[in-house]
Amino acid sequence: MSTEERDADEPGEDLLAAEGRRGGHRRPFDTARFREVLGHFPTGVTIVTAIEGPEPVGFTCQAFASLSLDPPLVVLAPGKGSTSWPRIATVGRFCVNVLAEDQEALCRDFAVSGGDKFAGVGWRPAGNGAPLLEGVLAWVECRFVEAYDAGDHELVVGLVEEMGVEPHRRPLLYYRGGFGRFEP
Ligand SMILES: Cc1cc2nc3c(=O)[nH]c(=O)nc-3n(C[C@H](O)[C@H](O)[C@H](O)COP(=O)(O)O)c2cc1C
Repeated sequence: MSTEERDADEPGEDLLAAEGRRGGHRRPFDTARFREVLGHFPTGVTIVTAIEGPEPVGFTCQAFASLSLDPPLVVLAPGKGSTSWPRIATVGRFCVNVLAEDQEALCRDFAVSGGDKFAGVGWRPAGNGAPLLEGVLAWVECRFVEAYDAGDHELVVGLVEEMGVEPHRRPLLYYRGGFGRFEP
């Protein structure tokens, strides 16, 4: 069987299954280049939070976007290594806090696993009880709808139930692995 035949997808075979079957028989994929190229897509940064009994939980998440207007849905992508996301999923309600330009330190603090990320952090309960962090640019309160397997991450759909914005603030931006500000 030629390499081309081995690399060809079976009719109707889904891509990921084909990738698994090939077990990397394809040309090695340059993940560093992938990060470098995708890093040129500038984004905002969020911290996704929930309240688990009395305890706040949260993690930094850049992979966030609006998905649907009616019904109002958003999408986010927690990594399979995240220890916070499974706890948030169990709670089933969360708040996506969109960070403001002066919140780089907060972003970094919530990007480290373990420890008490909320120590010294100002927050109040959002309508759904999840921590709404002080000083954020915007927030979206969600109910967890579904999670889909997506390689080394999950694709999570949230139903938006409440939201707000502080229009006088500006966003924290993430571009090429670094943080920036938006100058209109
Ligand atoms: C700027 C930035 C963006 C990040 N975006 C994501 C993301 O979209 N999805 C994700 O799972 N982790 C992302 N992380 C890493 C997580 O924040 C980190 O792995 C996580 O907080 C680990 O904590 P946990 O174990 O409490 O979940 C990002 C980190 C940084 C610094």
